[in-house]
Amino acid sequence: MAFLELAKKRYSTRKYSTQPVEKEKIDYILEAGRIAPSAANYQPWHFVVVQSQPIREQMWEVYRRPWFKDAPVYLILCADHRVSWKRSDGKDHADVDVAIAADHITLAAADVDLGTCWICNFDTAKCSQVLSLPDHIEPVVILSVGYPLDDVNTERHTSQRKPTPEVVRYEHF
Ligand SMILES: Cc1cc2nc3c(=O)[nH]c(=O)nc-3n(C[C@H](O)[C@H](O)[C@H](O)COP(=O)(O)O)c2cc1C
Repeated sequence: MAFLELAKKRYSTRKYSTQPVEKEKIDYILEAGRIAPSAANYQPWHFVVVQSQPIREQMWEVYRRPWFKDAPVYLILCADHRVSWKRSDGKDHADVDVAIAADHITLAAADVDLGTCWICNFDTAKCSQVLSLPDHIEPVVILSVGYPLDDVNTERHTSQRKPTPEVVRYEHF
């Protein structure tokens, strides 16, 4: 599949089948995250896979949306701020690195016909407690993963994205 075709296939899935996801597909998308680039190649991330019903139910308290409950898999992408690269001005690149891994994962998921949704608007303290995260590990993104039951809006890259002249500038701002 051509890259732009794959990029346009990915969308935020908010309606899932409860059908389990094959282990091979989970492994495939995790591999896509593992090989993602990171600042100084420090790879300051951990990917927590949640599939068991008791932990899934606790995650429903972390992100309270009815649609979230049906997704059979949650991937919690965490940053290790002790490991991440800091620029000379102090900027910590952990979020950048985790975001790249998340993007790899969501695109790989689309490649094998899985739906995903980025979730950042969640209760981070509750998430850390549910997953027993050490203090230096921050949950940055939750990805819901599963087979989609909704349809992608094929026009959204025109209707729901800023037009090129608004976002691209040449030579100067
Ligand atoms: C950093 C980030 C955080 C997001 N957080 C949430 C969220 O908490 N809940 C949600 O339903 N969608 C969330 N989204 C999904 C966006 O709303 C979605 O990507 C955007 O509207 C574009 O739609 P598309 O993903 O279908 O192309 C998030 C996306 C990104 C990149």
